Amino acid sequence: MKALILVGGYGTRLRPLTLTKPKPLVEFCNKPMVLHQIEALAEVGVTHVILAVSYLSDMLQREMEVEAKRLGIKITISQETEPLGTAGPLALARDHLQVENEPFFVLNSDVICEFPFNDMIKFHKEHNCEGTIVVTKVDEPSKYGVVVYEQNTGKIDRFVEKPREYVSNKINAGLYIFNPAILNRIELRPTSIEKEIFPAMASDKQLYAFELKGFWMDVGQPKDYLTGMGLYLNYARSSMPDRLSRDNGTVGNVLVDPTAKIGERCRIGPNVVIGPRVIIQDGVCLKNCTILADSLVKSHSWIANCIIGWRCNIGQWVRMENTSVLGLDVSVQDELFINGGIILPHKAISESVSEPKILI
Ligand code: GDD
Ligand code: MG
Repeated sequence: MKALILVGGYGTRLRPLTLTKPKPLVEFCNKPMVLHQIEALAEVGVTHVILAVSYLSDMLQREMEVEAKRLGIKITISQETEPLGTAGPLALARDHLQVENEPFFVLNSDVICEFPFNDMIKFHKEHNCEGTIVVTKVDEPSKYGVVVYEQNTGKIDRFVEKPREYVSNKINAGLYIFNPAILNRIELRPTSIEKEIFPAMASDKQLYAFELKGFWMDVGQPKDYLTGMGLYLNYARSSMPDRLSRDNGTVGNVLVDPTAKIGERCRIGPNVVIGPRVIIQDGVCLKNCTILADSLVKSHSWIANCIIGWRCNIGQWVRMENTSVLGLDVSVQDELFINGGIILPHKAISESVSEPKILI
């Protein structure tokens, strides 16, 4: 079976992290985002993954060659000359997707959940129509694609992308299976699958909803990335408890790379991810945050609700909060207060940031 992942462009909403690393390679819970998906696809027997990109970096190409070898699958990068939206990339990859005349997966690259790929295949084969989309329930549906469907069959009556008025709280989770017949609906031009293709499929009664069990999050923005991290760690607690830290001084769900070093009398957690070779000195308090590889947090700093990029250097007695995001190689002097700072790569901070702002 094949799968196409909609990787997209620059990942602007995850800046400053995506200024130095393509979004699919930014680590989420100590694993590049796109690998959560690719590994789950390989597990259910997908042998060819197509990454649809509108911007290509050498870094992505190199990493994907390594991963393809490791997983024993083929990974093809399908590059657009102009962004083709969420449907156009299927037309561009037509030759790959229709060869075997069997259903294929399509995924948004920024969603995280317990991927229900086997159950999706089963459900899709049962209704035998053109498409299956996974749906989940959220409290704030207006920033997603909203789906109205028959409860007993799953048949979708309406699909409304980012509705202005309340339609339903069941939303498109960004995971699909399609028959190659969908390709007859898509031309090679920028097209939104959500605005142009799904409504037409729904009115032709060719689109079905599969309800997701368990957690789900679109982690393409810092706040949601941190919320998704908490949900993922909670899921890890029940499905892979051995991977979570059991050290003294950890509170709740904490994931620490084995190469990281944590000092004495720290309080780490709840909901903290610490990457490879990170050093946390004595007396540090971390809550609801991710510290990416090779960073140093000096003694007695207090960090909550933040993402610290790679190779950062946080001084002593620093207080950082309110969805601050630090890019690669940022240093923060001792004793500073950082409140909602978005700090671009290679910056040295020597004054407190008392109100949320971007520092270039
Ligand atoms: N190759 C390619 N080219 N990919 C693209 C392009 C493009 O021009 N534009 C967007 N993408 C990718 C994004 O990188 C992402 O993986 C996916 O398509 C969806 O785009 P987003 O920009 O993240 O959309 P969204 O989050 O606002 O909404 C989508 O996801 C929601 C679930 O998170 C929609 O599919 C909603 O219906 C859905 O509820
Ligand atoms: Mg998204």
